[in-house]
Amino acid sequence: MIKCAILCLGCISIGAAQTKPGGTGQGVTKADLLNLKNAVNTLVTSQTTLKEYITDELASIRDEVSNLRDDVSNLRDGESNVRDNVLEIKENMIDLKKQRDDTADSGVSSKDECLNEFMLTGEHHRFLDSSLTASSELFSVRSARLGASHGWVPKERDLHQWIQFDLGEVWQINGVVTQGFANGDWWVKSYTISHSLQGTNSSFTEIVKADGHVTFRGNKDRHTPVMNTFQSVKARYIRIGPKSWHGAPALRFDVIACHQ
Ligand SMILES: *[C@@H]1O[C@H](CO)[C@@H](O)[C@H](O)[C@H]1NC(C)=O
Repeated sequence: MIKCAILCLGCISIGAAQTKPGGTGQGVTKADLLNLKNAVNTLVTSQTTLKEYITDELASIRDEVSNLRDDVSNLRDGESNVRDNVLEIKENMIDLKKQRDDTADSGVSSKDECLNEFMLTGEHHRFLDSSLTASSELFSVRSARLGASHGWVPKERDLHQWIQFDLGEVWQINGVVTQGFANGDWWVKSYTISHSLQGTNSSFTEIVKADGHVTFRGNKDRHTPVMNTFQSVKARYIRIGPKSWHGAPALRFDVIACHQ
């Protein structure tokens, strides 16, 4: 494009100097000079325009490059945040596994007969998002797994909200792990757990703790997973119902169960 512009400017100037029949070839007339001068002026103006154009183009290219550099650096930051998050979650999982294995006296059966597993975030089972449903969704159940971005948040903020996990078949359920909202200071401070074989609203039974209460203590911040274990129940469906919360009833969770 730039090459073409220069070529055309050449044409104008040569044409202007040669085609005007101002003289007889023996001398240069005033008209010739005037034409020449005009041609030179045109050339100079065009060159200035060209120069400005090139300067503008260069500036915008420089801006583009600097934007790209910013993008790359943002991506690098994002990547390192994600890496930090994953590392933190891995550490938490290791802690939780240790806690789980140490909790032999609270209803968790011996590892010999029934190996406990994290159902939603563990390595052995890949439950689809469709195994999760809820009473209502401000933030989808699709982000309700431990370590996920966001978390489930019901649309309504009353004591009748729940998130439900369908394990597909009957498992022996021993515990629940909860975590708060990934992107803000929202978490569930206490909740009930209920279980069912059929999954209909009226078929759920609340789990009663050893102390006779049905409310489990939940999270104290949005990051740290908190585990509650209980006398195991045989169920296919499990529901968690937030009863008190900080900011909003936001939840990420997993279920600890074993398959006999
Ligand atoms: C179960 O409860 C939820 C809300 O708690 C309600 O939206 C849904 O309609 C109920 N389902 C049935 C079959 O009653």
